[in-house]
Amino acid sequence: MKVVTVVGARPQFIKAAAVSRELRKRHHEILVHTGQHYDYEMSGIFFDGLELPAPDINLEVGSGSHGSQTGAILHKIEEVLASERPDYLLIYGDTNSTLAGALAASKLSIPVVHIEAGLRSFNRGMPEEVNRVVADHLSNLLLCPSQTAVDNLATEGILHNVHQVGDVMLDVLNWARQRTTGNRSEILERLGLTPQSYVLLTMHRAENTDDSARLTAILSAVNSLAEPVVFPIHPRTRKIISGVNATLGSHVHLIDPIGYVDMVAVSAGARLILTDSGGLQKEAYWLGVPCVTLRDETEWVETVDAGWNVLVGAHRSRILEAALSFVPAVAQKSLYGDGCAAARCVELLQ
Ligand code: UD1
Repeated sequence: MKVVTVVGARPQFIKAAAVSRELRKRHHEILVHTGQHYDYEMSGIFFDGLELPAPDINLEVGSGSHGSQTGAILHKIEEVLASERPDYLLIYGDTNSTLAGALAASKLSIPVVHIEAGLRSFNRGMPEEVNRVVADHLSNLLLCPSQTAVDNLATEGILHNVHQVGDVMLDVLNWARQRTTGNRSEILERLGLTPQSYVLLTMHRAENTDDSARLTAILSAVNSLAEPVVFPIHPRTRKIISGVNATLGSHVHLIDPIGYVDMVAVSAGARLILTDSGGLQKEAYWLGVPCVTLRDETEWVETVDAGWNVLVGAHRSRILEAALSFVPAVAQKSLYGDGCAAARCVELLQ
């Protein structure tokens, strides 16, 4: 079986680490990096740290408006698919790279396999929501992390070739934990922090970074926290924050984006995670860290229902109240599968 896999943004490198390892045991994979993320801290660091094979092809599209970025990827992927003629195109998640891959393959009648299918925020203002809805409707095999995702697809009339496989990010988290046992990350020492004594913050969603009222409210809440805050900053957010000359308190450790193993260490040691990331909401749950989500809705509703995640939007008072007083549920149940999702994805592909 010959599979072309398309990745382009940070969370896709993480997901591909689990699936590529499994796929390459028996099949031929051509890994295409679109170049949507290109800084070493956003891209290369994940290939090195997760032992992901180097991309076979890099389309080097770089940054741009949504239309021009998606269009550039579409144009270049079509050429790759037309010459490689794979049995399947494999895409992940909800980025512009996902959308472009789905469009290019379906127009060449190459079956599309979507990992992390069926997620919905029901907010069409998010570019990711548009990308995932279109990608799902163009996919021939839809691999879902949860029953909610399967149900979302059914509501939209997608009933065939839909499978609940669990979340491949749990496979990667387990892999990283095994690899780092006894060989711990030194990032907390470098930051001069001890476990349970700080908050971890990440923020990069356009709805927060590109809306000055929301951005100001979030930064104001963060500045009012009394404990250290570790903030590995996405380049999008860094540019916007420096553009508006926003100042952050001296308790905020503003650092460059970090690799996966360091991120797991910083997440696991945090007293609380404040984030607008999708992946981090689940990692917080799996690591047993309470999560306060800087969004008005989430695709990962199970983490909220389980009592470990609370949605506070971008309201200063709600962020502060949750950061200071949110107490998670006493017990946890297992969410998003058993950590063997990648093997299941490959079996279904076969
Ligand atoms: C993208 C995905 C989002 C995912 C996120 C993970 C879309 C629509 N969004 O958002 O779903 O959660 O990646 O990080 O595809 N930039 C750099 N260096 C880089 C990459 C980006 O400086 O290596 C800057 C560029 O100025 C770019 C901006 O960040 O314009 C945004 O990058 P882009 O890839 O468009 O979207 P993300 O915000 O990263």
